[in-house]
Amino acid sequence: MKERGDEAPLVPPVELRPMREEDLPEVWEIDSVSLARPWTRAIWQAELHSPFSDYLVAAANTAEGGGISGYVGIKHTADELHVMNIAVRPESRRRGLARRLLTSAISKHPEARTVYLEVRPSNASARSLYDSLGFSTVGRRPRYYGDEDALIMSLTL
Ligand SMILES: CC(C)(COP(=O)(O)OP(=O)(O)OC[C@H]1O[C@@H](n2cnc3c(N)ncnc32)[C@H](O)[C@@H]1OP(=O)(O)O)[C@@H](O)C(=O)NCCC(=O)NCCS
Repeated sequence: MKERGDEAPLVPPVELRPMREEDLPEVWEIDSVSLARPWTRAIWQAELHSPFSDYLVAAANTAEGGGISGYVGIKHTADELHVMNIAVRPESRRRGLARRLLTSAISKHPEARTVYLEVRPSNASARSLYDSLGFSTVGRRPRYYGDEDALIMSLTL
């Protein structure tokens, strides 16, 4: 008979670590099911090699190594941070991963005073995530996404 604690955990432990070039195929897979307009390979290469970028992945921490369940990217300039992108695999959502990724990326920059990001007004889950972290809407960029405006949200740290 199984004893308490014998069961495999429902969710494998996840560690947050810097994104590496070899993570990109999995990241593209996540983008393809998460974003209306995934970045091109050239944009990803430029982002990953920029000295102003910080990209973190959430990777399964198992003996077999691990698949990537989500990532976040920010850019830092002086005392401002800009959230460039964040996405979590559909099957790993609503487990607090995006919140962990974003708060961890922000906390790597104690010099930062303000965090900015753009979000589609129609993206209810992302807006709800940002609201839950204390972001507020401070402006709008007309037709930023081509087919839709962007809301500009900011968080004062
Ligand atoms: C937005 C996204 C990154 C959220 O990832 P996630 O790991 O599911 O988010 P979390 O589990 O950390 O959620 C944290 C909080 O955000 C809010 N939230 C997240 N998803 C939500 C949803 N579908 N509906 C309502 N609130 C939601 C909730 O307040 C949640 O806290 P709770 O679960 O305790 O209620 C994910 O839905 C995603 O990858 N979407 C597609 C890509 C995208 O739109 N990126 C943003 C571009 S601006």
